Amino acid sequence: MKKVGFFIGSLRKDSYSKKVAEAMMGMFPEGYETEVIEIGNLPLYNQDYDDLNDVPAEYDTFRQKVAELDDLVFVTPEYNRSVPAVLKNALDVGSRPFGHSVWDKKPGLVVTVSPGGIGGFGANHHLRQSLVFLNVPTLQQPEAYIGNIVKLIQEDGSIAQGTLDYFQTIVNSFVNFAESNA
Ligand code: FNR
Repeated sequence: MKKVGFFIGSLRKDSYSKKVAEAMMGMFPEGYETEVIEIGNLPLYNQDYDDLNDVPAEYDTFRQKVAELDDLVFVTPEYNRSVPAVLKNALDVGSRPFGHSVWDKKPGLVVTVSPGGIGGFGANHHLRQSLVFLNVPTLQQPEAYIGNIVKLIQEDGSIAQGTLDYFQTIVNSFVNFAESNA
């Protein structure tokens, strides 16, 4: 069984990013299990915590969980044209102590979600910049900029079939990519 961890860059209760992530989680084929990895409980990264006698328990749990994953999916809004601090904090926590990054070589998918038309382009590429350094090979195509998200959600809260079909295309492409990078 392959394990796919979802990292959601919004802590908002009614987050659109969370809704997109939940839809995608159900689209993986047999042989995959998906799980949201909590990032909102991680204390702000401080390099003093690299001292092994002073590691917050939440860091240990988080690093252990990420280490057990096969694949990574990041679904995030854009804050001020960049990556929300909570997600960047999680990347930093997982990257240390130096030489012990838990991200290394795990295939990744970047999905950005926005009510705006640009679809979180700035956050998408800032995140990719960090993932290059963290040695996370990332799906290039199709790019996943989910813009105008408010309009894509129907009155009853469901997501229109055409949009779900697009999400499925992204997931299928990622699964193929991840298998060829395993
Ligand atoms: C935003 N928002 C936003 N949207 C965008 O497309 N580009 C941006 O740069 C920003 N900047 C920004 C900064 C901050 C601090 C907030 C709170 C919001 C709007 C954002 O896309 C919107 O609130 C989304 O609904 C947030 O995503 P979730 O929580 O619905 O997943």
